[in-house]
Amino acid sequence: MAPHDLDTYKKAAALKAVEYVRDGMIVGLGTGSTAKHLVIALGEKVRAGMKLRGVPTSHETAALARESGIALIDTENRWDIDVAIDGADQVDPSFNLIKGGGGALLKEKIVAASAKQFIVLVDYTKRVSVLGGSFPLPIEIIPFGWGSTAREIEKLTTSAVVLRERNGTPFQTEAGNLIVDVHLPRIDHPQDLEAALNQIPGIVETGLFVGRTDLLIVGTPDGVEVHHAPTV
Ligand code: A5P
Repeated sequence: MAPHDLDTYKKAAALKAVEYVRDGMIVGLGTGSTAKHLVIALGEKVRAGMKLRGVPTSHETAALARESGIALIDTENRWDIDVAIDGADQVDPSFNLIKGGGGALLKEKIVAASAKQFIVLVDYTKRVSVLGGSFPLPIEIIPFGWGSTAREIEKLTTSAVVLRERNGTPFQTEAGNLIVDVHLPRIDHPQDLEAALNQIPGIVETGLFVGRTDLLIVGTPDGVEVHHAPTV
């Protein structure tokens, strides 16, 4: 599938998500190529008179939101986010996610956790029967002793742990940390894995979003699907 076609489905999902945003809301604004469509569409709503304020999950999203005329809330504030809306790299049947392909997972998880509702937008290719495999799990770690942290992750997961690089140098997150991508063939128990990873000193946050999704909006060749999270 050409990226251009997938972008059509991402945009369709984003336009649907806008229907869940009401006048006066505080909206957590995700990061990535799907969330970009959302921010642009919300900007159009603002120009048409809707009042809303955004909490951006990256500098990139903040810049686009400003350009689109969306007022942003001081990132140091304690927020009352009505809804956070974001993309994902993989979604399993329980709506658990892998996120962090763009490196913004830390702010994304903080914003999702602070929101009353978390809406996830994907094109249909992101749905998988089990997390892992084709997409490595991003984990944000602090630079101090990163090699030892990576070794602990490797021991726990028995999978290859690769330091993410950009232009030949280590990728740096907005919080000044590093990302390692863990090539797990399959993640059968995401909740257990997340809990175990969180025991390793040096890990700031993992790209596993377990039990956080309230609503999943999927762009498909047959139209947009809206799914409520399965109750467990
Ligand atoms: C950013 O770090 C990620 O979590 C993105 O939300 C995720 O990678 C989805 O990105 P796309 O919408 O670009 O596929």
